[in-house]
Amino acid sequence: MLVLGIESSCDETGVALYHTERGLLAHALHSQVAMHAEYGGVVPELASRDHIRRVLPLTRQVLHEAGCTLQDIEGIAYTEGPGLAGALLVGASVAAALAFALKLPTVGVHHLEGHLLAPLLEENPPAFPFVALLVSGGHSQLMEVTGIGQYATLGDTLDDAAGEAFDKTAKLLGLGYPGGPALSKLALQGTPGRFKLPRPMLNSGDLNFSFSGLKTAVLTLANQNQQDEQTRADICLAFQDAIVEVLTKKSVAALKQTGLSRLVVAGGVGANRQLREGLSHAAGKKNFKVFYPKLEFCTDNGAMIAFAGAMRLRPEGRRTMNFPIKPRWDLAQLEACPA
Ligand code: KG4
Ligand code: ZN
Repeated sequence: MLVLGIESSCDETGVALYHTERGLLAHALHSQVAMHAEYGGVVPELASRDHIRRVLPLTRQVLHEAGCTLQDIEGIAYTEGPGLAGALLVGASVAAALAFALKLPTVGVHHLEGHLLAPLLEENPPAFPFVALLVSGGHSQLMEVTGIGQYATLGDTLDDAAGEAFDKTAKLLGLGYPGGPALSKLALQGTPGRFKLPRPMLNSGDLNFSFSGLKTAVLTLANQNQQDEQTRADICLAFQDAIVEVLTKKSVAALKQTGLSRLVVAGGVGANRQLREGLSHAAGKKNFKVFYPKLEFCTDNGAMIAFAGAMRLRPEGRRTMNFPIKPRWDLAQLEACPA
């Protein structure tokens, strides 16, 4: 089955074609980062308007790259939630309109399920069951994954998500938006050990996270020290060390608690090099295997939506003019995928 996938939940328009036998045929992305950078964060109305502009040209592009036509598509997947309502509506309505015109089934995909299944696009995909560390701009969760749609929450963030903590900390250090990549780049020049920040909830005895206190600690450090480039780099490194240590140790604890030996890392923060190094190091020591998507499939993309949609689409699936969206949607509430 050839599935067109459309991602439009936040500030990236992603479109892809995934074939259940032939794999990923093409994918294309337009990032709105430059447009939102001027405002220091995502402006929802601008995001929606830009998705409208990009989604059809990107669809034409992937069809061209895959050597396919609209008539070859057999099903359409779009991001149903969670995300910005207006942005989600663009992908949802375009998917519904195309499906109506082409008489095709549609499926709404949970954005985080897309992230979580993205490592399955790789050559040596993880087998179920596994533990997933989902670290994106809006979520920091540890999940026990027993199959597609079978997700049990092991731990969640009590306040800011890891990506959000990166973004807010970068902002208060004047590094602009999006903060994660900028902060980790500056941290490369940091002096190890100059500053030490707390490891929130490291010994809480559960698998939950809390990152909002870290940004306050960073603010205090920034106020106490001169604001030169080296100091900012040293603070970035201390911040990243704290987040990486907490994410790594809680992931190891989740593997121990579930008795599993495979860890999947997904979501934008999964692109962080130091986190990857920390987890790979722990994997060697504690004897587990860690799986990542390609860097470009860590952050938002259409390939993960086409893939997750392909797992859930059936030729006899939904064919209505409705295009539901769910701006808020708990991953653990998803239904298991029928075999
Ligand atoms: O998964 P994603 O693309 O979008 C959401 O679903 O939220 O994640 C975006 C988040 C942002 O907070 C961004 O700062 C963070 O991922 N991020 C990073 C890196 N690349 C992206 N954080 C740390 N290090 C990175 N290299
Ligand atoms: Zn995402």
